[in-house]
Amino acid sequence: MATVIDGKAFSEKLVADMAGYAAQIKEMTGEAPGLAVVLVGEDPASQVYVRNKGERTKAAGMRSIEHRLPEDTDEATLLALIDDLNNDDAIDGILVQLPLPDQINADKVIQSIAHEKDVDGFHLMNVGALSTGQDALVPCTPFGCLLLLRDQLGSLSGMNAVVLGRSNIVGKPMAQLLLAENATVTIAHSRTKNIEEVCRQADILVAAVGRPDMVKADWVKDGAIVIDVGINRVPAPERGEGKFRLTGDVDYQDVAEKAGAITPVPGGVGPMTIACLLRNTVVACARRHNLTLDGLTN
Ligand code: GUN
Repeated sequence: MATVIDGKAFSEKLVADMAGYAAQIKEMTGEAPGLAVVLVGEDPASQVYVRNKGERTKAAGMRSIEHRLPEDTDEATLLALIDDLNNDDAIDGILVQLPLPDQINADKVIQSIAHEKDVDGFHLMNVGALSTGQDALVPCTPFGCLLLLRDQLGSLSGMNAVVLGRSNIVGKPMAQLLLAENATVTIAHSRTKNIEEVCRQADILVAAVGRPDMVKADWVKDGAIVIDVGINRVPAPERGEGKFRLTGDVDYQDVAEKAGAITPVPGGVGPMTIACLLRNTVVACARRHNLTLDGLTN
């Protein structure tokens, strides 16, 4: 039976460390790190995420600045707000919640964020820095996965890692991070031939495809470490009419029999994402102010 990787407990330690750094920064500069979160429209999932981010930011002793704009906001208005935030010395991190409404070009918006404040790590400068091994702000979810893997494995050097999914937010940066740890990395996706066989070669399997319970026990090598990034809402009639439950991209019950360690959903990767967002906000703040904080490295 697999070890259950407790992302919730790990994230709580990380948040506590970030609260410590935030307090140090406040001592040194007079102000705690400030994170601006921009939400356009009323997407229910985004509203929950943004509320959680705000609460967790404040709980860690940092400043949370929220901007909520109506669904019909035009691109120029959003770009003007980002320009203000870029030029506001009290703002250390800027996050624009995705998805954005159709009238707004998300790529253009992301590239308009000052890269040194881009706590999502989506700006081309950060993407390029990550892929060339330079200091970058790294996307939060894959970095959270990496911290859990390092905690389980120590060194990842020479291990076979398979990343299922090739999104810009998770799959691609995850592959870059694993490569930087000297793993042998394969990215598998919807067009991959013999995908089950490819996954069976993995010592480390990271699933980030958004397909409920796709990965079964026979996709997994005995003893592999399985990281499930999926958060899928599926009908749960057993809980009553119209009820839902959350499930990952991995069939947990099935795979837990075979894997060496596995992250649950919820309580695995999910809580690591916000913890890493707070971490990126601390890192961005420290870099902007040229502060050295003991122990804060990638
Ligand atoms: N929407 C879903 N995931 C993310 C994320 O990591 N960052 C942002 N900005 N929006 C998201």
